[in-house]
Amino acid sequence: MDKINYDGRVAIVTGAGQGIGRTYALELAARGAKVVVNDLGGARDGAGSDPSAADKVVEEITAAGGTAVANHDSVATMAGGKNIVQTALDAYGKVDILINNAGILRDKSFLKMSEEEWDTVIGVHLKGAFCVTQPAVKVMKENNYGRVVFTASVSGLYGNFGQTNYGAAKMGLIGIMNSLKQEVSKYNIKVNTIAPTAWSRMTSDIFPPEFEEKMNPRFNEPMVLYLCSEENSVTGNIFAMGAGWYGRSAVVSGDGVCLGDAKRPISVEEIRDNIEKISDLENAKPHDSALSIFGYMEPLLS
Ligand code: NAI
Repeated sequence: MDKINYDGRVAIVTGAGQGIGRTYALELAARGAKVVVNDLGGARDGAGSDPSAADKVVEEITAAGGTAVANHDSVATMAGGKNIVQTALDAYGKVDILINNAGILRDKSFLKMSEEEWDTVIGVHLKGAFCVTQPAVKVMKENNYGRVVFTASVSGLYGNFGQTNYGAAKMGLIGIMNSLKQEVSKYNIKVNTIAPTAWSRMTSDIFPPEFEEKMNPRFNEPMVLYLCSEENSVTGNIFAMGAGWYGRSAVVSGDGVCLGDAKRPISVEEIRDNIEKISDLENAKPHDSALSIFGYMEPLLS
């Protein structure tokens, strides 16, 4: 089997001080990448900071013969994002791979959620991805090469009690990806999103104890490393995974139904009488661009 390697590649992994991000950093370095290990080192809810989180992973990588440098900035500000990218430029001169992985939780049912709980979670996951990805993509564009991974969640794709803030942020990342993939495809930059599942600090009090070994964070790593490899040809896709299962998820649209003639008004009763056809997902498929949705309206538009 030809081994995939990252020789000569420079990778940034955010939130790589523990959990799933740590497994990406270790394996990228083991396969030849020079790695920026970013981690603020805060608590699960994002409070506080501790530089030892990133430093320990850098020590682990260098002890194993790999190359890595630590960065302790928060992803949640533009200054932090720029400095994370600058750390890669200062140490290794470029950025080829960015894995947006840093994350926190502030779960609360929707009616009890405070503005601060909303803003903090959106700030780390959604704004944080913008703050790191924009400066990183600027560098990737110059080098005509890049691999970007966003970390969503099945909470965003399908919902989870108490996670309206987290789910909104995670689904928002898919919104960033959908447009960004179009803007950067001409620069050989591929952008994908994953929805991982793993036993970690984030989930250890949510999952049953018997999941600890089977839901090892390392099972997410091969899919993400593939998406970050030169061999990866896909862009704009969503992959869900956990415990060794890997599958594509997608936003899809059904065939729907054309009513009227694009001239006469449509009544609410016509919607009621066609709701089954409107809701049918039998031939549902994903689309590469917002423009392709016009295809469904073709009979009305021509
Ligand atoms: P974790 O809590 O073990 O690791 C997250 C890391 O991100 C921590 O080391 C933390 O210090 C760091 N971090 C938090 N805020 C930061 C900031 N502002 N700047 C820089 N670093 C920051 O969590 P885990 O499970 O490894 O999660 C990794 C990613 O995967 C997160 O984005 C999470 O939302 C996502 N995810 C995890 C799932 C799971 O089952 N564990 C499920 C779905 C998504």
